[in-house]
Amino acid sequence: MSPLGNGFASSGATDTCTSGQLWTAGTSESELMNPGFACRSCHLGNNFQNQNPSGASERGKAYFFMGTAYGEVRQADLCAAANVPSGAVVEILDMNDVVQATLPINAAGNFHSTKTTAGFTLPYKARVKANGKTNAMASSQMEGDCNTCHTAMGLNAAPGRIFFPL
Ligand code: HEC
Ligand code: HEC
Repeated sequence: MSPLGNGFASSGATDTCTSGQLWTAGTSESELMNPGFACRSCHLGNNFQNQNPSGASERGKAYFFMGTAYGEVRQADLCAAANVPSGAVVEILDMNDVVQATLPINAAGNFHSTKTTAGFTLPYKARVKANGKTNAMASSQMEGDCNTCHTAMGLNAAPGRIFFPL
């Protein structure tokens, strides 16, 4: 039994999956689902990188800001984050540097906002806070589906995964 509970299989820890915990339960309802995948894309019924070949959707929960944070930059799709620091959050800021949302990072590394719109004027900025430290994205963005850029290898100039501050 995986320490994360139903939906995860324990494999050995590897360089690209430090936790050794892989999500195997497809679109089963869970806050811990599909770590690393492009959450909002699937919730909207899209098929980003063939992650949703069956065309599943969950539009009412297609929250504007969704993603996964890891301890390392190159973690594989469906791998749960390892050792998420307690109290770790993602903060979303507007262009006046006002924090507009504080999103708890759960045991799989997943986080999401609670509305399907941004709720303020875009673009936005984002940062991860953990252990009293901050890891900020320097650029501002329009797209809130973080894992569409923060893939294992990184797309659109992202370095790879969103990571907790070291
Ligand atoms: C391949 C499609 C797909 C991906 C990728 C996906 N989801 Fe989901 N998600 C679903 C579907 C479908 C449901 C509804 C499941 C149901 O009702 O049985 C759902 C439900 C949820 C729920 C509701 C859970 C509950 O207990 O009410 C949350 C929260 C959620 N997803 C978060 C995420 C996050 C965060 C990510 C990205 C790390 C993600 N999802 C990625 C398809 C997906
Ligand atoms: C359109 C692509 C794109 C999207 C979407 C995106 N980012 Fe980024 N992110 C980048 C790029 C490029 C960098 C590296 C340059 C920089 O810091 O601006 C980066 C860097 C970061 C960093 C610092 C380095 C790292 O990998 O941890 C954090 C933290 C971060 N992003 C958080 C987020 C969060 C949270 C979201 C979603 C709410 C998000 N990003 C959405 C492109 C994106």
